[in-house]
Amino acid sequence: MSFFNSSRFITLEHYISSEKDKHPGATGEFTYLLHDLALAIRIISREVRRAGLNDIIGMAGDTNVHGEQVKKLDVYANEVIIQSMDHGGHLCVMASEENEHPIPIPDKFDKGKYILVFDPLDGSSNIDINVTIGTIFGLYKRTDDSSDTDMDTLTKQIIQPGYKQVAAGYALYGSSTVFVYTTGQGVNMFTYDPTIGEFILFHENVKIPKKASYYSVNEGYYNFYSDELKQYLQYIKQDKAEKDLPYKLRYIATGVADFHRTLLYGGLFMYPSDSRSPNGKLRLVYEANPLAFLAEQAGGRATDGVNRILDIKPTNIHQRVPLFIGSKENVLEVESFLKGDLKFDYK
Ligand code: AHG
Ligand code: MN
Ligand code: MN
Repeated sequence: MSFFNSSRFITLEHYISSEKDKHPGATGEFTYLLHDLALAIRIISREVRRAGLNDIIGMAGDTNVHGEQVKKLDVYANEVIIQSMDHGGHLCVMASEENEHPIPIPDKFDKGKYILVFDPLDGSSNIDINVTIGTIFGLYKRTDDSSDTDMDTLTKQIIQPGYKQVAAGYALYGSSTVFVYTTGQGVNMFTYDPTIGEFILFHENVKIPKKASYYSVNEGYYNFYSDELKQYLQYIKQDKAEKDLPYKLRYIATGVADFHRTLLYGGLFMYPSDSRSPNGKLRLVYEANPLAFLAEQAGGRATDGVNRILDIKPTNIHQRVPLFIGSKENVLEVESFLKGDLKFDYK
């Protein structure tokens, strides 16, 4: 199946600028932010591609053949994003999975009204084995008029509900590097061509299939799931061709890569709560919210099993949330089981 739906060669830079021109009054700040972020993604992509050669793979704190301190790729990616984004004058604060506290903009740089949240490297367990990893981000606007930069004020600005995102997206470092983003006007995908250093549009206004026979979950934790979820997992494994059952299982264990496949092929990706982790594993602010924004923009659905992800008001930067995301009908189906409206007697 080909997803290429653009008959023109359009670069990301050009696309972002032309989007801005469609909004009279737009200041262009946003355009600069996405440009800077695309640069960070290019740098991370380069490092991912040569990670094996560079000895960069490995635990932070190791020493490479040159006797230099080796940075683990997620620490490296974190620094690249911070250093690409802190001096543009458009952000007032950042929050990253790798930093316990908000990342202030250094005094020497101008501050702006935007807030960047990100997971610099998603899929850490796949770094050392050449399996797809990614970067996830969300962008918010500061809601107050103040220019206070104390931690409390900045933290309050970061923990806005996801529906307030003004943009969100991700990069995937897979067989090619792709950049996918939304500004609330649909979802667009770009593929990176390293020979010309450009992201080229290959799929405009992506729509997720309404329903598909794929599911994605760490089923190794089956014994810890609720009885309702067990019923769903047994239901979808039946031999019932007339209902497109059984579903096919796909699980990469890089959340953003599992999401990317789900966006294109449809189906359900979930990281549920279990008896050991009542809130699941994924983080609301910089994992679930950006993906939920993209899913909805593509016509899909994202909930914690009951509530819309984008409506949840975070109470802290790093809080976890159960996630059910993907094709609308697949997410509604699992929700019906979780509510007890649908049952399946498998015992
Ligand atoms: P991160 O690498 O940013 O810590 O995130 C890892 C997450 C996510 O990418 C993936 O969906 C999940 O961990 C996989 O967890 P399990 O190994 O428990 O399945
Ligand atoms: Mn992650
Ligand atoms: Mn991470």
